[in-house]
Amino acid sequence: MPDTREPLNVFAERAEYWGLPVMTAAVAMLLAILSGQAQAQAREICFESRENASAVVVTEVEEGLPNVKCSEKTGGVLWWGDPYDGTVPMGDMPIEADYSQGEAVVMPRDSQLNLPPACGTACHNGTFPPPNNDNTPRQLTIHMDMVPDALNLQHGRGSIWCLDCHNPEVRNKFIDHAGDEIDFNQPQKLCGACHGPLYKDWRAGIHGKRIGEWASTGKKRWFVCTECHNPHDVQQGERNSGFAQLVPEAPPQLPRGMKNADHERPPH
Ligand code: HEC
Ligand code: HEC
Ligand code: HEC
Repeated sequence: MPDTREPLNVFAERAEYWGLPVMTAAVAMLLAILSGQAQAQAREICFESRENASAVVVTEVEEGLPNVKCSEKTGGVLWWGDPYDGTVPMGDMPIEADYSQGEAVVMPRDSQLNLPPACGTACHNGTFPPPNNDNTPRQLTIHMDMVPDALNLQHGRGSIWCLDCHNPEVRNKFIDHAGDEIDFNQPQKLCGACHGPLYKDWRAGIHGKRIGEWASTGKKRWFVCTECHNPHDVQQGERNSGFAQLVPEAPPQLPRGMKNADHERPPH
């Protein structure tokens, strides 16, 4: 995710350069913009799984029925009015042990990402900069907001790098072992290319999360890998864990009229 502080830092540096009067005017302007934004942002946004990577705007799927309810404490989605809202068919998932006879859907990643729609045309257009197949780790001069230490990618313990996942020719696609393109909306195919057993578990509903109908033949939504895992930081340094810790929800409230839960304690 882009670091939102960066534009402000640039702004501060420039303000210093321009001198105090300009800075005062600029600060007033910024405050005006920010308060305007605050008004425009009367809408509520919460997140489904990975914070800053699975945002959902609270709307109504029909009158009086919100699409989601968000936790007041953490901002996480606690309840779905319509778990299929915004989803698309998972598409072709040729995999052994496919237990889902029902309709499988996923949430496309497009809306959560800033760059992929443009990166294959605006910056890497196939001719400029020249397509680079060099997959030797080197210090990057761009994208450091997403991959802060490219020389020590926090995924794969030194055995993989950018172009094992990103297509060198078509930058807004991933790549599989055969060199074929994988869409940004189907990260499970990318991850599954290296994490076969996990992929199988995921499809079967043992790993990750799915919501929807109970019946085995019913419609279900699978959460895709990148809704939970940050592909550039699965190890998280010393924490050494594939999953960013979540803030726990508040404990459940006692039923009305009850002052404590002492009756639950074992007798001594
Ligand atoms: C293990 C596979 C993998 C590796 C290795 C990898 N990426 Fe990614 N990258 C992804 C996936 C998956 C996404 C889409 C993330 C999502 O859907 O949230 C992504 C997204 C991106 C984006 C777009 C992010 C956005 O918000 O628009 C950029 C830019 C990027 N990667 C750059 C890099 C660079 C540079 C490297 C190497 C230093 C790298 N990636 C290494 C899998 C990988
Ligand atoms: C090109 C091969 C490759 C791809 C593609 C790939 N990974 Fe990995 N991944 C690895 C390797 C290698 C490791 C390190 C395994 C180890 O240390 O035992 C790893 C480790 C992990 C870990 C465990 C982190 C840890 O150290 O405990 C997670 C979680 C993970 N990957 C998730 C993903 C997700 C999600 C995707 C898709 C966005 C993905 N991987 C795509 C090769 C890959
Ligand atoms: C709903 C969230 C969620 C989804 C979706 C999800 N994972 Fe995970 N995954 C987790 C959690 C939680 C862990 C445990 C992390 C830990 O131990 O710190 C984990 C662990 C892993 C590990 C490390 C396993 C190990 O044995 O150490 C890998 C690899 C992995 N996931 C890959 C994937 C792939 C590939 C997908 C998609 C096909 C995926 N995950 C989808 C939440 C998810």
